[in-house]
Amino acid sequence: MYIINGKKIASDILHDIRRTIVERNVTPGLAIILIGNDPSSEIYVKRKIHTADKAGITPHLYRFKATDSQDDIIECIDFLNNDSDIHGIIVQLPLPGHLNPDTLIQRIRPDKDADGFHPENIKHLGDPSFPQPVTVMSVVECLQNVLNTSPLRQLADSPYKGKGDVSPLQRRKDVPLSAAIMCKSDILFIPLATLLSRQNIKADHFTELNKKCVQYDILIIALGKPHILTKEYTKKDAIIIDVGISRIEHNGTTAIKGDADIESLKKHAGAITPVPGGVGPVTVALLLKNTMNNCLNITKP
Ligand code: GUN
Repeated sequence: MYIINGKKIASDILHDIRRTIVERNVTPGLAIILIGNDPSSEIYVKRKIHTADKAGITPHLYRFKATDSQDDIIECIDFLNNDSDIHGIIVQLPLPGHLNPDTLIQRIRPDKDADGFHPENIKHLGDPSFPQPVTVMSVVECLQNVLNTSPLRQLADSPYKGKGDVSPLQRRKDVPLSAAIMCKSDILFIPLATLLSRQNIKADHFTELNKKCVQYDILIIALGKPHILTKEYTKKDAIIIDVGISRIEHNGTTAIKGDADIESLKKHAGAITPVPGGVGPVTVALLLKNTMNNCLNITKP
């Protein structure tokens, strides 16, 4: 089974970002708004700050209490929208219950959106001159990596170039690949299915793990249920993109687990993104790429 190395994919993206920042002599700034003390969010934000620093992007953290009002956060977003040192803004999710994520995301200036979640940017899905949705694009990046070909459409007749005993999906060129996307909401499914369909990959939506998933060439899972996906649900040589992240506390230590059970799948699946070290680092790198691109667009003469 080929392990898709998200850290390597991310490090290549970060390398390009660093090089462009030096070549273009710009100083992109990323503002992160963190509300409350959700332990997972604390870890993700720390990672975003650390990675931004490494890439040459200046991180700015704006912290709010879980009880602060929506108006307080809106005031901060309005300030950042007008701050010429800031080129990317994110509101770390999830939010305390009294805050509306859609209202806050829509308040961000679309050309300073770093997550690519703003509805104005979703209209330009697949157009790299607009911020792109980072989770969706990280799944696409991981798929492109395993198929080792760009665009994805060529994969039907292209064997994996991974190491080890990887056997390619035996497909004829004119047979479209199929993908099952397992996630609760349309927010991931719709843009991902749209991008995959442009590469001749037909995607179906499941809100739970389903026995029918065994028929699909590609499984994309974002259910947040640790190790739920086993070989019984998986076609031989399938590609698995694991977007699920769960924090498991055990005997005073915390482990991060994905939705896929690698032990069960290792002699069965064709390729998989590990957790940690798969989709997660790519998502952070793409957030920084959006920020850098926003900076170039905003500051260009
Ligand atoms: N929480 C978990 N993932 C994300 C993400 O990609 N962006 C934001 N803003 N919050 C998150």
